[in-house]
Amino acid sequence: MARRARWERFVEIIRTIADMQRLSQGWRRAGQRVGCVPTMGALHEGHLSLVREARRRADRVVVTIFVNPTQFGPKEDFGKYPRPFECDCALCEQEGVDAVFAPEPAVMYAPDATTWVVEEKLSQPLCGERRPGHFRGVTTVVAKLFNAVLPDVAVFGQKDAQQVLVLQRMARDLNFPVEVVVAPIVREADGLAMSSRNVYLSEDERTRALAISRGLEQARQAYAAGERRAERLCAPLRAAIGTACGRVDYVELRSRETLELLTTVDHPAVLAVAAFFGATRLIDNIFLD
Ligand code: PAF
Repeated sequence: MARRARWERFVEIIRTIADMQRLSQGWRRAGQRVGCVPTMGALHEGHLSLVREARRRADRVVVTIFVNPTQFGPKEDFGKYPRPFECDCALCEQEGVDAVFAPEPAVMYAPDATTWVVEEKLSQPLCGERRPGHFRGVTTVVAKLFNAVLPDVAVFGQKDAQQVLVLQRMARDLNFPVEVVVAPIVREADGLAMSSRNVYLSEDERTRALAISRGLEQARQAYAAGERRAERLCAPLRAAIGTACGRVDYVELRSRETLELLTTVDHPAVLAVAAFFGATRLIDNIFLD
């Protein structure tokens, strides 16, 4: 028998949808709640915080690792997206994850697949506008992952605030019996939001990219001091990114429920930012309640 890597002895690696459904159905028959953390791998402390949240809410936790081709644009980083699978499995093992669902693209998508899941409102602005087709890929793959894992609860990070809103809407509109939970952003000690894409940053770009989290923090302080005008909250953040030689993709204040553009914070809001440092596009946000 081939020698198995250390993590293989502990974490069950599931490769097919039928095997995943069988495992989950068995747990459910035994009265256990199933939690799911959908990821594209390259796991970091942010993902692990989602795993811990899932563990608090469920008896069994499945991490899905699938770099989903349909959510990347033709000029985006699908090919070079980091895929440290063994390291990811070791981290899952350390966190006591029950199973890793890691299908190949051919398992997830028939070559002649023609069915998509599309959310038509919340997916339009922000990243939806800048990355055409992105959310169609996300909603389609997450619907398929829900059908494979059959979770009671799924946990996503606030860093992708728009993604969570879109997925909550999808789960509601399509009657998925899944609670879609959002967990707080995890930051590096210096404030940079954790992201699998941070590995693309050179040392210099990483230092300059701190303009994002610092600018957001300044906005938070301005808000705490009573500032409610969108432009007064957004402009300093845009300027900070420009001064750090980043390229702003968007800095916008939007409703946290509808994602409509706000001119003043008169109900729960999200200050959302996307910016390039070098070729790397980073996103971040804060909630203003
Ligand atoms: O947030 C991600 O990593 C991805 O968009 C997700 C939700 C796993 C779908 O591929």
